[in-house]
Amino acid sequence: MSRRVHVLLAVLWSAAVVAALSAQAASPPDARIDDLIASMSVEEKLGQLQQLAGGAEGNYLPEQAELARKGLLGSVLNVRGAERVNTLQRMAMESRLKIPILFAFDVIHGYRTVFPIPLGESASWDPAAAERSAAIAAREAGAVGLKWTFAPMVDIARDPRWGRISEGAGEDTFLGIAFARARVRGFQGDDISRPDRVAACTKHFVGYGAAEGGRDYNTTDISEQVLREVYLPPFKAGIDAGAVTVMSAFNDLNGVPTSANPFTLTTILRGEWKFDGVVVSDYESVSQLVNHRIAAGDADAARQALTAGVDMEMVSRTYVTHGAELLKRGAWTMAQVDEAVRRILRLKTRLGLFERPYADPALEKTTLLTPEHARAAREIAARSMVLLKNEPGVLPLSKDTRSIAVIGPLGDDPVNMMGNWIGDGRKEDVVTLVAGLKAAAPAAHVTFAKGCDITGTSREGFDEAVRVARAADVVVLAIGEGEIMSGEAASRATLDLPGGQLDLVKAVVGAGRPVVAVLFNGRPLAIGDLVDAVPSVVEAWFPGTQGGAAISDVLFGDVNPGGKLPATFPRAVGQVPIYYNHKSSGRPAAPDNRYTSKYVDMPVTPLFPFGFGLSYTSFTVTDLQLSASTIRRDGQLRASVALRNTGPRAGDEVVQLYIQDVASSVTRPVRELRGFERVSLAPGASRRVEFLLTPAQLGFHNRDMQFVVEPGAFKVWVGTSSVGGLEGSFTVTE
Ligand code: BGC
Repeated sequence: MSRRVHVLLAVLWSAAVVAALSAQAASPPDARIDDLIASMSVEEKLGQLQQLAGGAEGNYLPEQAELARKGLLGSVLNVRGAERVNTLQRMAMESRLKIPILFAFDVIHGYRTVFPIPLGESASWDPAAAERSAAIAAREAGAVGLKWTFAPMVDIARDPRWGRISEGAGEDTFLGIAFARARVRGFQGDDISRPDRVAACTKHFVGYGAAEGGRDYNTTDISEQVLREVYLPPFKAGIDAGAVTVMSAFNDLNGVPTSANPFTLTTILRGEWKFDGVVVSDYESVSQLVNHRIAAGDADAARQALTAGVDMEMVSRTYVTHGAELLKRGAWTMAQVDEAVRRILRLKTRLGLFERPYADPALEKTTLLTPEHARAAREIAARSMVLLKNEPGVLPLSKDTRSIAVIGPLGDDPVNMMGNWIGDGRKEDVVTLVAGLKAAAPAAHVTFAKGCDITGTSREGFDEAVRVARAADVVVLAIGEGEIMSGEAASRATLDLPGGQLDLVKAVVGAGRPVVAVLFNGRPLAIGDLVDAVPSVVEAWFPGTQGGAAISDVLFGDVNPGGKLPATFPRAVGQVPIYYNHKSSGRPAAPDNRYTSKYVDMPVTPLFPFGFGLSYTSFTVTDLQLSASTIRRDGQLRASVALRNTGPRAGDEVVQLYIQDVASSVTRPVRELRGFERVSLAPGASRRVEFLLTPAQLGFHNRDMQFVVEPGAFKVWVGTSSVGGLEGSFTVTE
């Protein structure tokens, strides 16, 4: 055969293969799903709608094996490990209809390699870092047989008392959108059927972060305006990025709990957004409709949840218990049940579970905590740190420092370094601060004194701490919260350093050595006294497996800190809620007028504003240029500034753009983030940083809930935090 014939045959053959494949892609999944549904009993259908919890250690329970064998178990959470997953899966695959089980777990900031808590990671203002960590988390999770993570949490949180602020991207919607997208992309990639990808789940739909009093699970009352402007957009962004599942939340929203709310679950999610993936309830949030007193009993709870749009019930069993009876009396229709089953089977198809239901045990052995993953954890943790204060000459530390005293309850504490929701993170994998410093400065003498417990009030350890401090050249304080103080069911009514830690700080400062405070915490803290007492403060959040190494990188200046706060730090808990994008009020706070919106006992300004963070070098932002002074309402505008590193070291600055709609038909925030970029510059180097403002960033929901750009004046600021910046203005015309 000639070469030409070869080529022709090859072309014809591949065309035939492509045609066959695309025919397969177009028809079988849905046809197979319809066939399956047609052959399922009511019991089998209800089984698909049920998710049960295995043991926290990762094993399934005997009852779950029994259900799997009968083909009555749609999904389990917590069961993990290739062998365990495969054993249970085999039972399902040998059942009558051979529908695979979907294995789920909370892989929130890493599986075995633990990354910084999401709030910390968001302080990097580097969505690519979050995408990278989510991709690694997915790879490790996939290797132990998981196909679904309950992440990302995209709840906006304006109240640091709420412990779950640690699980999200903080207080701002624009930043939250960027991180929602990045995390979904990281978990799912382009093809969720690959063994190194998992289905993402944007949660908790919706408004959960607005719990009254910052108390977890509490009621929320959010106007539709604020819902559409603040709380919904990160969910929309996650779904637009491909998220195939959504979790309905625990909270009551404006009188209708979110796990039974047809407005959010059907009108918005399915109707406006055309979401065709799966909605899973939160843990027992369906049966909790009875506690909300919107359902008269479990059957009524099931009726309302499915009807509102919850496809799969997590852990409570109202669907499987009452479904048949609800169908019989017409409270559910078979079409409703079939639709929920269809969505779940479609998800399983998209995940490739029918073709590849089993995990590869060999992969499990080679994928977890690889050196590459550890390196990423270290880099991302270092990128997440925020330098809150640094008097000249303290940081970075010299590697020639002869002796370093680490003092405080978190100095050599592997468990708390990881934060909460640690997947299968293990304390033996963790580099503590003491270990990190020893490795980074082998010639230095590193000593440690705990001083006190995290929440304890005993001063017994203070004398030793002071003695250890006196004997050192420099003191690194390791203070803050325990991991258990943030996350779910970890709301706080106070925001200061817990226990007697501030007293320990004062005692150690009295020893007269240079002091650096490293903070570990899952939320903004009201730490004015600490900041006054010490010359340097590094916010390390809960930094994960490589925490101590990453902190050492920052303390010694191998990494110049460039993170920025993703949430406002208040002066006192009484200022809460305090967030940068608040409204103006009719009487904005004015220093010389008592009758303005402020406190008699404290300034209205925060301790540290949103977007704030220092560096070991210095930057200037100059020469704000706008591409036009007038644009049409459908037009766009470019804004640019010159950024220069004017200091002695290479470093990163996060350039931030804020806008204000000067007068509008509904009141608008004093300023809103509409652009940011983290830029690295060598000493002396400069770069122009440019942002594009489009109608999507200039508009808002008007009184009729239409998204509009209104003609009129706009202000714009470009700077390095939510306060100040270079100011410009432009006008939008019809
Ligand atoms: C939490 C969810 C989590 C679920 C499963 C619930 O208590 O609110 O965020 O995904 O448990 O563990």
